[in-house]
Amino acid sequence: MNEGRRPAGGRIVVLVSGSGSNLRALAVACRRGEVPGTVVATVADRACAGVAWAEGAGIAAAVLEPGAFASRDAWSEALRDLVASHRPDLVVSAGFMRILSPAFVDAFPGILINLHPSLLPAFPGAHAVRDALAAGVKVTGTTVHLVDHLVDHGAIVAQRAVEVLDDDDESSLHERIKAVEHRLLPEVCAAFLEGRVRIEGRRVRVEGDRSRGCGSRTGRP
Ligand code: GRF
Repeated sequence: MNEGRRPAGGRIVVLVSGSGSNLRALAVACRRGEVPGTVVATVADRACAGVAWAEGAGIAAAVLEPGAFASRDAWSEALRDLVASHRPDLVVSAGFMRILSPAFVDAFPGILINLHPSLLPAFPGAHAVRDALAAGVKVTGTTVHLVDHLVDHGAIVAQRAVEVLDDDDESSLHERIKAVEHRLLPEVCAAFLEGRVRIEGRRVRVEGDRSRGCGSRTGRP
């Protein structure tokens, strides 16, 4: 994994709980030089395919299970200290199925982002794809947002729309959303590491964002 890579720029730590397809897409984009950075570590809250892939790819990988700690606070602090030990320029929660504590969030101001499979503020929570289908929406999508103290609430950095098809089930729709995420996440990480992200309260501007953060349908004439 390290051989042939361009010199590392920003240091990225990725939090995962599941298949880790976004971790893989991001790591590959870094290796190709599409993102001026390196995934230096992956941390999971459980044994999962994502962390196994990271190990195989030569990325520092750790599993911190909450059950192994005396309290949730103790786990949060250990997670924070482990992530901080990698001196990240960017921390990416990509399918991490735990709520991050204020102590964790406050340790990474302006550099902690989450990937969520809906167009927030619609369908926050752990079942965003299922909830979108149940609501009968015709368009859903994905959001990259800064993490704050509330769940799926922080300032929105970028969004992409994905059409809901009549015969979609949760799995088929989520797969198409993920395919979009695999392109969006590296783009957003590149913007952060290139210093192109301007955070002004809840309004976030990504300079040089060709898509204007919401697909090509800007509505502009
Ligand atoms: C993604 O759809 C992300 O938006 C959500 O969890 C999923 C993670 O997928 N938070 P993967 O583990 O990257 O394949």
